Formats: sequence, structure tokens, C-alpha cells
Amino acid sequence: MTTELTEARKLDGKVVAEAIRASLVPRIERFLSSVGRPPGLGIVLAGDDGGSEIYVRNKVQSCEALGVFAELKRVGKESSVDEVLALVEDFNRDDAIDGVLVQSPLPVGMGQGAEQRVFDAIDPKKDVDGFHPVNAGRLAQKRSGMAPGTPSGVIELLDRSGIAIEGRRAVVIGRSDIVGKPMAMLLLHRNATVTICHSRTTDLAAVASEADIVIAAIGRPGFVTRDFVKPGATVIDVGTTRMTNRAEVASLFGQDSPRLEVIERRGATTVGDVHPDVAQVAGALTPVPGGVGPLTIVMLLSNTVHAAERRRDP
Ligand code: GUN
Repeated sequence: MTTELTEARKLDGKVVAEAIRASLVPRIERFLSSVGRPPGLGIVLAGDDGGSEIYVRNKVQSCEALGVFAELKRVGKESSVDEVLALVEDFNRDDAIDGVLVQSPLPVGMGQGAEQRVFDAIDPKKDVDGFHPVNAGRLAQKRSGMAPGTPSGVIELLDRSGIAIEGRRAVVIGRSDIVGKPMAMLLLHRNATVTICHSRTTDLAAVASEADIVIAAIGRPGFVTRDFVKPGATVIDVGTTRMTNRAEVASLFGQDSPRLEVIERRGATTVGDVHPDVAQVAGALTPVPGGVGPLTIVMLLSNTVHAAERRRDP
């Protein structure tokens, strides 16, 4: 007798991101022909964090591929917060710039509280990351505004994959301002019953296993194991941790994990918060890479186009 193992349906973020990108094309063309310039995004990058370099390069390339103007301003890792604030002010005043973002994390030398000071300085109308307290507040009140890209992308992925949200139980693991909290708000506004779990939650697996939709956003590789997941549940993996140590990857994912070959070929593998065994329990699952990642950038582009249109036509 054979035991039939059914693998979870894979939710392909690249396909969904492509569909959203295509829907932005006519809006960008309309903006260009009526205003005489493309929508513009200003990016500030401070320091030389390897991950940030890659993210920012992807953001600039994605803008250019779609006909959105992107301007990158950089400062070194020894720079002061005031230098970053001055760049933000330049972008705030620049009429050709509709969206402004400062790549996180800032260099540690800038001190605690630097990031919040910088996000607070961005003109809320240009705040395409949705990190300004005005936009966080507007999101909490379900008023129009700019929601952070990653959680907005997750909602798009669920909607466009035909996964119902209303009335269902959603568990968000992680309470960051960038993903966990806005994710919970967006799910709540879509009438899910939402629980936010975090490092102090007692019996996290038991709480998560009540959920129809699990969102993992804690940045701990393979943390969500099959005992966290109700059979048939949808699992969204927001984690992206770059791992370079072969032995660590083997102990987490097993000696036969295809990730070992990726490390050998490229020197690193990007892993999510969800253990691969979850595929045998979940009904639908996002891969890492290729799940939520592609949506984060396209939602940034969507927010930039939205900000441009609103600045012209408030
Ligand atoms: N660092 C990691 N994710 C993000 C993001 O969405 N926006 C910014 N500005 N920095 C990040």
C-alpha cells in the first residue's frame, strides 16, 4: 500500500507581482502624458549593509523597467542622522519626486531612535513605505493612506490566489511596525479574526494551529514547523534570512535539502520562517524566495504611482 502525500499548493508571488505591474503601466503612461514627467521615487541609502544594497538596487531597477523615475542619494556609514534628514528634506521639497523612502536599517552608529526620527521627517504624502506615524494612524483607522508594501502585497497575493479572508481566523507571528502590525490591521479590515503572536506568546504552536491563515514574519529560519499548522491552512512566509553556513542549513532543513546545493553554487541561500515539512500539512504555501518578496517591490511601485496621482489630483 502506498501512502499518498499531498503537497501544499504553491502561491507564486512572481506571477501575481507581474499582473500588478502590468496594471500600473497604463497609469504611469497617463501620468506621464498629462503631467509631462514620470512618477518619481527618491531613495536614501545610508551605509553599506549588503542586504540593503541588493534591495535598493532591485528597487531602482524595478522603477526603471516600468518607466518610474528613481533617484538614489547615498551617505556613508559614518554619517550623522542630520545628513540623512537633509537628504529627506531635499526630496520632500523636490516637485519631481512623489515618493520618498529611507532604506532600513540605518547604520548602528546613528544611534537608537534614528530610524524613527528619519521616518517622521518624510512628508506623509510622499511616504510610500507607510512608516510615518500619520500613515500608521490612518491605516489603523481604515482611512485611505499608504500601507507598507510587504503586508499590502500579502493581501494582494491572498486575493489574487482566491483565498478568502473574511470571517476566517488569521494568526500573525511577529509584531514589527513594518510587517506584523500593519499586516494585522489589513487582515482585520478585511474582516478576519486576527491574533498577533510574538516571542512572549505562551504555546505559540497551539495558537497558530487554530488559524486558517498563518503569516510568519519573525525572521527565524524554519521556526514554523508542522505542529503550528492546521491541515489545509494557508501559510504565508514573510521571512528572508540569508544563510551561508552549510552545517546550520543541514541541521535545520536536513542533509538532503536542495538548499545545500544552492549554498555550494552561490555561497548563500535565502530561507524563510517556515520549515519545508509544513508543505505536507498546509493547503497553500508561499515559497522563499519567490513568494512574498516579489510583491514587496511591486507594492512600493504601486504606492509611488498612487502618491504621484494624489499629488496631482488630491
Ligand atoms: N528594509 C527592509 N524592508 C524594508 C522596507 O520595506 N522599506 C525600507 N525603507 N527598508 C526596508
